[in-house]
Amino acid sequence: MKNTVIINLKHYEISSGKSCERFLSSFIGMDIPENIRVVFALNPIDLRIARDFPELEFYSQHVDPVSYGAFTSKISIESLMDMGISGSILNHSENRLNKENISKTLDRAYRMGFPIVVCSENLVEAGEYSKLRPEFIAYEPPELIGGNVSVTSSKPEIIRDVVNLCSANNVPVLVGAGIKNNDDFAKSLELGAHGVLVASGIVLSKDPLMSLNSLIEKL
Ligand code: G3P
Repeated sequence: MKNTVIINLKHYEISSGKSCERFLSSFIGMDIPENIRVVFALNPIDLRIARDFPELEFYSQHVDPVSYGAFTSKISIESLMDMGISGSILNHSENRLNKENISKTLDRAYRMGFPIVVCSENLVEAGEYSKLRPEFIAYEPPELIGGNVSVTSSKPEIIRDVVNLCSANNVPVLVGAGIKNNDDFAKSLELGAHGVLVASGIVLSKDPLMSLNSLIEKL
């Protein structure tokens, strides 16, 4: 399995809405090492842009447990697939969901072969949601999100515990919160994770392409 980097574009002004296209354009033609997979997680307002960037891989930041129909403001797996979106984040700390919703979405997604990355704030959630057959559990302690202290330096023991718990259900783990550089990425792999979920360290940096390149170099 490749080491994965999911870049969450959130709803930052520089990476969404009118700026999304320009932001994504800077990654066209970038050299991605064979053993690395890079995915961009788009805000709902930008999902249709995926078709304009066929060489990039896109996830949604959210998906709902509905099909097409009378569901105001909902996002179905069917519509994501139709737009060229290949998976979705679910239950991000900034968009928390109840267990029933998570379970229904994962059930539909599994039947449709649509990969879901379920965010978990702690060990208990990681254990519980890893039983529901997600593609990844993303462990993100909320208090570190958007800050300068990385989850890999602050919570290495918990990352190991999350990895062990999820491995029992054959689910790989991503880690996120405060991820900034190659050391954070390397440490996440050393702790048994399969990659990182990152936002501000790349999106809000002076040079997002350079920041991504330095995150993935030497791995
Ligand atoms: O989804 C990734 C995110 O919540 C982590 O944010 O800014 O700490 O990389 P950041």
